[in-house]
Amino acid sequence: MDEESHLSRIGLSLPKSLLDKFDEIINYRGYSSRSEGIRDAIRSYNTHYMWMAEVKGERQGVITMVYDHDQRGLLTTLIDIQHEFMSVIQASLHSHVTHGRCLEVILVKGDGSQLKTLVERLMSQKGVESVKLTTIMIRE
Ligand code: NI
Repeated sequence: MDEESHLSRIGLSLPKSLLDKFDEIINYRGYSSRSEGIRDAIRSYNTHYMWMAEVKGERQGVITMVYDHDQRGLLTTLIDIQHEFMSVIQASLHSHVTHGRCLEVILVKGDGSQLKTLVERLMSQKGVESVKLTTIMIRE
């Protein structure tokens, strides 16, 4: 019996808007139940963090970030964080998605653990919708 065949039951409290969005996505993607959708979401979350843990050594890559332009003080905070990490940031590109949403692509190069710290800092700001880090190893 594989480890995924032992089922545990959990109860969750979620903001309604978060659950509505989730339901909309799982309906669109054709999941047969919420449980199936949540199992899949947890698997992706685990994979993402395991993958993040492997980001070490000298790396080059991009950070893709989407955030709420109208969130009070967020723009200044994001710029302050980027200045703090200027030794690993090579350039950034800002695109206005809508009046209220911005997409930013940050080109990074440096130690993997430092890049992850930068990503975690950006991610933890209120109004930041998503942050993704994609890197390659630097070798001759
Ligand atoms: Ni913008």
